[in-house]
Amino acid sequence: MNDRTLEISLTVNGARVQERVEARKTLVDFLREDLALTGSHVGCEHGVCGACTVRVNGEIVRGCLMLAVQCDGAAVETIDRSIGVLLDTLLEQKLAGSTVIIMSADHGGAGRSHGPNDPRSRHIPWICTGPGIRKGYDLTRDPTLTVNTEDTFATACWFLGIRPPGKIDGKPIEQVLDDRELLRDAKVTTTK
Ligand code: FES
Repeated sequence: MNDRTLEISLTVNGARVQERVEARKTLVDFLREDLALTGSHVGCEHGVCGACTVRVNGEIVRGCLMLAVQCDGAAVETIDRSIGVLLDTLLEQKLAGSTVIIMSADHGGAGRSHGPNDPRSRHIPWICTGPGIRKGYDLTRDPTLTVNTEDTFATACWFLGIRPPGKIDGKPIEQVLDDRELLRDAKVTTTK
């Protein structure tokens, strides 16, 4: 051991892990960089956006606000495992080829809070995958696009061909489609 690293022992998604880790490394960085568990993301780094959320000893925590060394002896669970369980179930049920998955957070953030009248509180991390969805396309590189909480509902309606009565808040995130013509007939009326 030296001044800057410590050896920790923990379980991650049920597997025993023993690693030497920098004393100042956050839990989310440890999971992503040392264990290649990239389901938890680094967003605001201030405990606001929720992109780094993991479970430690059954409690939901922000991985950006906890040090990896604080998890010595703990049981850590990440979204990577949950996604694996979901995908295994879809494969077992032969639904993987016809299912689109959207992963998101329930709200965004503004500074260190998410004030109700601040539009940043509706700006969320958003991931979509499945048949017909563009692979490796980073929505954050589109300077004209902001994905908000209400867009998930609009997109789900759009995928399912549901036409809500009247206008709804939110817009379908069409940019994720490989072929935008695919769902042309299923578009819903929105406030886009
Ligand atoms: S990165 Fe941890 S809450 Fe945003």
